[in-house]
Amino acid sequence: QEAEATTRGSLGFTPITSVESTKDAFTVPKGFRWDLIIRWGDPLFENSPAFDPTKPDAQAQALQFGYNNDYLDIIETNSRGTRALLVCNHEYTNRAIMFPPTTTETEEAEVLRTLKAAHGFAVVELERARRGARWSYVRGGHHNRRITADTPFRFDGPAAGSDLLKTKADPHGVRALGTFGNCSGGTTPWGTVLSGEENFNGYFVADPAARGGKRYGLTSAASTYGWEKIDPRFDATKADYANEPHRFGYVVEIDPTDPTSTPVKHTAMGRMKHEGANIRVDDDGTVVAYMGDDEKFDYLYKFVAKNKFRKGSSRAARKHNLQLLSEGDLYVAKFSGTQEADNANLGSGEWIPLTKNGRSAVTGFTLEEVLVFTREAADAVKATPMDRCEDVQPDLKTGKLYVVCTNNDARGTTGKPATDAANPRPVNKNGHIIEITERRNQADATRFTWDLFLVCGDTDQAGTYFGGWEGPVAPISCPDNIAFDSVGNLWIATDGQPSSIKKNDGLFKVPLHGKERGHLVQFLAVPVQAETCGPVIHDRDGSVFVAVQHPGEEGTWAAQNSYFPDYVAAGATPARGAWRGPRPAVVQVTRA
Ligand code: FEO
Ligand code: CA
Ligand code: CA
Ligand code: CA
Repeated sequence: QEAEATTRGSLGFTPITSVESTKDAFTVPKGFRWDLIIRWGDPLFENSPAFDPTKPDAQAQALQFGYNNDYLDIIETNSRGTRALLVCNHEYTNRAIMFPPTTTETEEAEVLRTLKAAHGFAVVELERARRGARWSYVRGGHHNRRITADTPFRFDGPAAGSDLLKTKADPHGVRALGTFGNCSGGTTPWGTVLSGEENFNGYFVADPAARGGKRYGLTSAASTYGWEKIDPRFDATKADYANEPHRFGYVVEIDPTDPTSTPVKHTAMGRMKHEGANIRVDDDGTVVAYMGDDEKFDYLYKFVAKNKFRKGSSRAARKHNLQLLSEGDLYVAKFSGTQEADNANLGSGEWIPLTKNGRSAVTGFTLEEVLVFTREAADAVKATPMDRCEDVQPDLKTGKLYVVCTNNDARGTTGKPATDAANPRPVNKNGHIIEITERRNQADATRFTWDLFLVCGDTDQAGTYFGGWEGPVAPISCPDNIAFDSVGNLWIATDGQPSSIKKNDGLFKVPLHGKERGHLVQFLAVPVQAETCGPVIHDRDGSVFVAVQHPGEEGTWAAQNSYFPDYVAAGATPARGAWRGPRPAVVQVTRA
């Protein structure tokens, strides 16, 4: 495809060619190497038991790195660049490949408790010899922490304490246990990490006829994860826990610098299948958060904080900033525009208020109803149905916002919304990325202009568009998480290429500016049936980090499909016993 080295910035590399979707290998450019930082089951604390998937053990798992790492950041904590905090969330579990089948209810109950403990977050200290060297994790680091599906969280914002959040176990509606389905996220300028509670509906048995039930995908069938068998709060068909599903679907905020802090669920930012949240602070200190609801035909949102960001590291500034996401106005996006023959579409749009100055802005909805049944409120104001907004992230250098629509194979099909300029493809299998410019580049503007930056797909496919670039590009499909480097490139991680273009998922780089705008190349590919998450680009340090999620997820305990990351040879005896199946892991890529 594309052979020349791309040399802009300190992370020049010769692009890889795309990797067939059957290959169980982690592929990096020539002259680079990949190294494991941490993987599922690794011990975080001095007293963490050794990893042993043949003996599911919830207490052990709560002291070990969790499963299916998704959002990732590596936050340096000293000026020499030799200490850092790795923060990541653990979105969900793949029971069939993690633990052996069980024969008794008692055994299965311990598996289910262990799966609960494999969800949530991990905070892990990293260290290295010098800037530019490779990181190792610190077992027993003072900041090390696991948050699971049972860790106490505090609700804040206008819906905290509302009747809609009360349950038998929490009669005041102020404290929830745990977080799960955490997908992407963002690190705030005040040093905390945000993460979106996404597919929470799969954890509940519920009455679909209850308010919001159907709109949030809740059903009365056995849940995907089966936790109702061991914890009554996951059966919302019983009156005691009818509101338990209302307590998930928020943006959560954790403070990785304080392992004793209580993480928060921000009701002011609405309840949906939150993919994540990313913050932009404007020149005058105005704070906004951009958020996507990752469901076919759901919406793009913006939260504008009431109070301004306070600079500095004083305790007073920190305390102030930790409350920024507790109060503000919530908006949803409406797009209009024109369809061009080559999909070089552009147009304008507006942010429609759902809440304004602490009040509901939607006729027929109380403030609490807007924040707990946000999708219904957005339906009422006729927001634009999108092709599954995943990561939605501002480029902090330019202020432009990138909205990643991963795919939507129902677009334009019978009974479903038709194509529009911002979602231009019928049966959209490959996804696209929209570039938004706020009016006068003000973060809290209520109007914006937009253009299509990428319309993804295999390169010979009709309708692909690469920011105006006419030369060859790498095939790309199902963009998901994004990140920016220091020299104006967007990095795109994919989720779903094996089913759309029969290639392993990967990480791609594309310039946003200048003559090379749209010239997309591939940097790495993850192993069979894995998704590329993270990513974190420390190009000035010559490092790229990715979280490899669900490697070999279509396998079974007895017939595994992936051996990432240890690749213990068949017949060899691995150090940890006879098991050699896949382990989701965080990987660093550096020059060889
Ligand atoms: Fe968990 Fe929207 O991907
Ligand atoms: Ca995602
Ligand atoms: Ca991102
Ligand atoms: Ca995805």
